[in-house]
Amino acid sequence: MLSEKISKMLNDQVNLEFYSSNMYLQISAWCSSKGLEGGSHFFYKHSKEELDHMYKLFNYINDSGNIAIIGKIEEPPKSFSDFYSMIEKVYKHEQHVTKQITTLIDYCLSNKDYTTFNFLQWYVSEQHEEEKLIKGILDKSLMVQKEHIGIYMIDKYLSKISRDTTSS
Ligand code: FEO
Repeated sequence: MLSEKISKMLNDQVNLEFYSSNMYLQISAWCSSKGLEGGSHFFYKHSKEELDHMYKLFNYINDSGNIAIIGKIEEPPKSFSDFYSMIEKVYKHEQHVTKQITTLIDYCLSNKDYTTFNFLQWYVSEQHEEEKLIKGILDKSLMVQKEHIGIYMIDKYLSKISRDTTSS
């Protein structure tokens, strides 16, 4: 059984992953409304991956003899001034998720919960991949920020990577 504090921290992470899923789903709609089909497809797929992250935590809490609690989930942003500011927001969000995972891990180690520490290793690798993925899009977006033709190329890139890979 998990300590009350660790159970609470994991529940907070459940809600954060839920928020991430909703945020990406909303971004998918925003991309679609701008005619960015590649971006829309990419973020739709990413939204589903975030749900998987949420389910992993949800099941871990329940399997540990505790109860997963779904809390209130904040509304995600609905619109962005441009593609670059959207992807910048996404990158900051993923950095925030990484920070939360790190805080959880620090707490588990200092309280000798090695089972949860072990469970969370998957999230450490996943966040490394997610930050790398989003940073790649951010860097490319920065290069073409002021060029409309560039946004079209970015959209093609997203379309390609979301069809070629299943990783997040
Ligand atoms: Fe589940 Fe993108 O963090």
